[in-house]
Amino acid sequence: MNPIWPGGTIGIIGGGQLARMLALEARRMGYRIAVLDPDPEGSAMRLADISVTGALDSLEAARSLAEHSDVITLDTEHVPAELLERLEVLKPVRPSSNVLRIVQDRFEQRRFLEAQGLPQVRNAPVSSAESLRAAARAVGFPCVIKTRRSGYDGKGQARVDREEDLGDAWRTLGEAPAVIESFVHFDREISVLLARDLGGNIRFHPIAENSHRRGILHTSRVPARIPTELARQAEQFGFRIASALGHVGMMAIELFLMRDGGLLVNEIAPRTHNSGHYSFGACATSQFEQHIRAICGLPLGDPSLLRPAVMLNLLGDLWRDGSPNWRTVLSHPTARLHLYGKSPASIGRKMGHILILSEDSDEAEEIAQTIAFELEQSVAIPLERRSE
Ligand SMILES: Nc1ncnc2c1ncn2[C@@H]1O[C@H](COP(=O)(O)OP(=O)(O)OP(=O)(O)O)[C@@H](O)[C@H]1O
Ligand SMILES: [Mg+2]
Repeated sequence: MNPIWPGGTIGIIGGGQLARMLALEARRMGYRIAVLDPDPEGSAMRLADISVTGALDSLEAARSLAEHSDVITLDTEHVPAELLERLEVLKPVRPSSNVLRIVQDRFEQRRFLEAQGLPQVRNAPVSSAESLRAAARAVGFPCVIKTRRSGYDGKGQARVDREEDLGDAWRTLGEAPAVIESFVHFDREISVLLARDLGGNIRFHPIAENSHRRGILHTSRVPARIPTELARQAEQFGFRIASALGHVGMMAIELFLMRDGGLLVNEIAPRTHNSGHYSFGACATSQFEQHIRAICGLPLGDPSLLRPAVMLNLLGDLWRDGSPNWRTVLSHPTARLHLYGKSPASIGRKMGHILILSEDSDEAEEIAQTIAFELEQSVAIPLERRSE
């Protein structure tokens, strides 16, 4: 298939921050961008050459996007696979409906990982009140119930420590079809970031070491502090997953590094990923450019790290008293501010991030923690009082 060269149009379903950063990189490279999102003011919509306002599961809206596009890609894995299948007869869709069908259902994803012989947490599907208890006993306590579909940033999840709390926990999730997993105590969380091109070639960005708060990514640090053999093993897992899926584009694989040195696969994201934002500033080729190269049928770029880096997420919590104090951030000369132009800011909503580059990742980490602390201090209303 002929490559889609600069001048061509990339269509993106979903107009969030991933689409926005993809659009920034695409524009730099001379591509045109078409975006479909329900919100005409969505993060990426204002950067688009062509914007289509419509629901992410509207076939009519998606067809209109396809009309304007040479290739279609995704901002989120929650676009129905059936819809993508209908678009595939019109234009190339990357990643494909086959990849999405597996990945957008947590249990299908678990079954796929099992079939690949990859290590993961004990898990079982839940579809009724009766299966809930049996499934929880099979995985053990503590455990976590996760809805099969539509989860992100820890949403659609409930941790359960005791059998008597199972029913209430599942009810808070609307009794939706779910997977129950054993809750594990890992040593570290890491993510493998890779791109696979149309010819099946794979290149890896440096592995990120991630810390979460309230189920939401807080910081990513590169290089990750893990032994080289473990890093190679994690990449091997990524290679097997992306190859078996026949994926095209960026992909992130979230892993738990256990205290005994073993790795468990937590999740597959068939797209650019929050833990790869560091690459937008710290690598020769960002994950967004790499994704564009892969889906346009171009050779992959050099993902090497130029400098150690720490990425700090900025959540809507910091806006509870108006805009955060940017002087605090920008008085650090190595801090690069990224804002996604989202509104309104709500608690837990990803509004932007800060990238700190340094010769030394410990120093970058220290600056990130200082900025996080200073920003929090600059907000007059304490977070605990947010609901008042
Ligand atoms: N089985 C588990 N045991 C221990 N911690 C877990 C488990 N599952 C999830 N977590 C913690 O919660 C975080 C979010 O979980 P998960 O990645 O499943 O959710 P998500 O909502 O899909 O998140 P994302 O924003 O990455 O899409 C994980 O990164 C991890 O810190
Ligand atoms: Mg996750």
